[in-house]
Amino acid sequence: MNGPVAVDQTVSNGGRDRDGSPRMLSRWTFQYTPARQFVERRLEGRVLNACAGKTKLNHDGEIVRNDLNPERDADHYLDVVELPEHFEPRSFDTIVFDPPFDQKQAEEKYDGLHASDVYGALEGFEKLVRPGGAVICFGWNSWGMRSFGAFEREDTYLFQRGPIHRDVIATIDRRTSSSLATDGDSNRSVDTVSDRDGGER
Ligand SMILES: C[S@@+](CC[C@H](N)C(=O)[O-])C[C@H]1O[C@@H](n2cnc3c(N)ncnc32)[C@H](O)[C@@H]1O
Repeated sequence: MNGPVAVDQTVSNGGRDRDGSPRMLSRWTFQYTPARQFVERRLEGRVLNACAGKTKLNHDGEIVRNDLNPERDADHYLDVVELPEHFEPRSFDTIVFDPPFDQKQAEEKYDGLHASDVYGALEGFEKLVRPGGAVICFGWNSWGMRSFGAFEREDTYLFQRGPIHRDVIATIDRRTSSSLATDGDSNRSVDTVSDRDGGER
């Protein structure tokens, strides 16, 4: 995954659904039809929705919903970085990660709850996803699971929100089947300290 990252699809904001509801990406990301469809089409097997929020995703298999906010309708109320302590390693086929994107969002839109240790969360997903499984991330950047060598980028999407708003970026990284033969940290390809801190500028 060296070199430029190809953006596979750009989805424009705007217009209305058949029921008249506006097609706008809001704080509940998957209430926006294109974002929900984008995720639902990629759900496979046992799913972990790590910062589940309000929206219930449709899927034939099991979805484990986690959210730190006890007011959300969830199965677990854990900080996302604690998830590996509560589930078997490699026990999910798909992990969805749609956290607050920054501190300001957390304060203004999510009752002050934040998943500020993004690297810690991703490290946990590396433990929890099966070889052949996928991690779907939403955020302001396209890094996804690039810190971990056993993942290959499958798709990068931009969800546009108009001329003065930042695009929301969605990525899908699949854990290679070959990582069956190896294990966890032996696949690390990027320096841990600079991953966590964003490196020098
Ligand atoms: C962007 S919203 C998720 C929206 C969801 N995808 C939807 O469409 O309804 C982020 C969610 O992450 C939760 N959250 C914030 N910090 C968290 C943490 N450290 N661990 C787990 N969940 C967290 C918030 O309570 C909020 O519900």
